[in-house]
Amino acid sequence: MSKRYERLEKCYKCFKEKIDFTPDVALILGSGLGDYADSIEQAAVLDYKDIEGFPVSTVAGHKGRFVFGYIGGVKVVIMQGRVHYYEGYPMEDVVLPVRLMKLMGAKVLFLTNAAGGVNFNYHAGDFMLISDQICMAPSPLIGENIDELGVRFPDMSNIYDKELRSVVRDTAKALNIPLQEGVYIQLTGPNYESPAEIRMVRTLGADAVGMSTACEAIAANHCGLKTVGISCISNLACGITDKPLTHAEVQETADRAAPLFRQLVTESVINLAKHIK
Ligand code: HPA
Repeated sequence: MSKRYERLEKCYKCFKEKIDFTPDVALILGSGLGDYADSIEQAAVLDYKDIEGFPVSTVAGHKGRFVFGYIGGVKVVIMQGRVHYYEGYPMEDVVLPVRLMKLMGAKVLFLTNAAGGVNFNYHAGDFMLISDQICMAPSPLIGENIDELGVRFPDMSNIYDKELRSVVRDTAKALNIPLQEGVYIQLTGPNYESPAEIRMVRTLGADAVGMSTACEAIAANHCGLKTVGISCISNLACGITDKPLTHAEVQETADRAAPLFRQLVTESVINLAKHIK
């Protein structure tokens, strides 16, 4: 058995000893959606710090716990707070929660984040269904492969599952919530980008830029967890306006968009669950 899998199994054992719940959908919530988990029908809570070997986040405003419960009757596990590569954690730690949620029994991973709008047609407060991604951070699969979870050279042609995307698209339409659709690029952060970097990523085909998600989506695909993702465009990327970017602005727009985002996530989860085999 690989060392990495041994570590995961230890975390899983901690979970199993404390929690009797099998989620169908796993959610990782980005800036602004942190309180979403507080509004669902909760069945149990597990603090990250109570899981042996589990990475704990250092970012202010990010809580660190799994919330287990129900969204419209759908069994979910929600990560309230995630760890980022820019905090200094190795990629293995950054994606460990994704793998753990796979072991918990989740079939679908729903990723959300706050991102900078690179596409000139985007506005702060827009939502973007992630159609595909560019990962400019190191692959989380570098190093010993966890054969128990997936193959050494996994396919990435359908990272954001086509069928699940169409469910979210239809859900947004039914709710009358406008939804952009585009490519998310993950850079390492923690600095925001320079205007030249934003021009570069636009040339590369990115529509939104952020510091998370792509690595988690790779790990999810590797272990056979179907993935879907939505970005909240919290700001226009650097250089589109000449206003300097601040974390406060990102947080503020994400908070303002949160009620609509919550609605979209709730209804999407309910509809996605109908497609779980
Ligand atoms: N760049 C990178 N990450 C981000 C941004 C941005 O403009 N906004 C929110 N997260």
